[in-house]
Order: sequence, then structure tokens, then C-alpha cells
Amino acid sequence: MKKKAIYPGSFDPITFGHLDLLKRSCKLFDDLTIAVVVNPHKKALFTVDERVAMIKMATKKYRNVKIDKFDGLLVDYAKKVKANVIIRGLRAIADFEYEFQMALVNRSLYKPLDMVYMMPSVEYTYLSSSIVREVASLGGDVSGFVSTFIAGKLKEKFNNA
Ligand code: PNS
Repeated sequence: MKKKAIYPGSFDPITFGHLDLLKRSCKLFDDLTIAVVVNPHKKALFTVDERVAMIKMATKKYRNVKIDKFDGLLVDYAKKVKANVIIRGLRAIADFEYEFQMALVNRSLYKPLDMVYMMPSVEYTYLSSSIVREVASLGGDVSGFVSTFIAGKLKEKFNNA
């Protein structure tokens, strides 16, 4: 059976931590879709379409990666695209409780689905989109955390140019 995986998240914006995980996942799965959640209740810095465009730019060298967006339940999206694996990153103990809950809830909603947790490189274990947004909003240098063009987009958003 073809191993089709989804890498879901907010990606607001995509960071080197996400890209590190993507690089690892690409070697494990034949078909990988980065799925950006459409969540009207969560205030994001970038629109979903801006995020999708940034992810496309950041991942164009990967041939087996697709970019998509989804709303509603992740399990329903997984059923729709016939994916059997969800990839998530696990950085520190702080991530564990939420991820554990999410894994078990998703499995109880859709039995054939498995969650695969990947550890990023040690240099990205502290990295999150929210910390990148905060640094950028205060005029800090985010070039070690995100691709150059995303750093530019962050500058535009915060008007630090
Ligand atoms: O990058 P994030 O914000 O940690 O990603 C969280 C995400 C999008 C994977 C999660 O919120 C999600 O799956 N949302 C879709 C709604 C859903 O299925 N909720 C139940 C999961 S327990």
C-alpha cells in the first residue's frame, strides 16, 4: 500500500523547524501533503493563501510534496485524500500533552489513521512560528529561523522595512 502522509499545521509562517521535519518525512513517505488548517477562530498573522504561497516557495525542491488547505476535522480531510499517516513534530516535553491527546482523539475518530512524531534537529527544538512572529514584530533578525523571502514577508507585515 502506498504510504500517503499529511503534515498538518498552522504554518504561520513555515520555519526551518518545519522544513527540517519535511526533509526527514520526504524520505519515509511516497506522497506527502502539507495541509494548512483554515481556522476562523484562531487569529493568524498571514492569511491561509499567503501561508500556502510561502510554503510553495519554501518547498519547491521537493518533488513528492503537495500543498493544500483544509477546514473541519483533520480526520475527515485524511479520509478525503486517502491518507493513512499524520506527521507531527515533537520538540520538547511541552508539546507532548497536546500531541498525545490529539493522537488518541484522532485515532478514536478514525481507526486506520496513525500519527508519526518526528524530532527536529537539536538546533530547532526551541523554534516555533509564534516565537518567530514575536521576534519579527520587535524588529529582531529572524534569518536563522525562516527562509529569506519569509523574513521579508514578516518585515512587510510588521512594517520594519
Ligand atoms: O500547527 P498547529 O497549530 O499546532 O496545528 C494544529 C492542527 C491544525 C494539526 C490541529 O489544530 C487540527 O488538527 N485542527 C483541525 C481540527 C481537528 O481535527 N481537531 C481535532 C484534533 S484533536
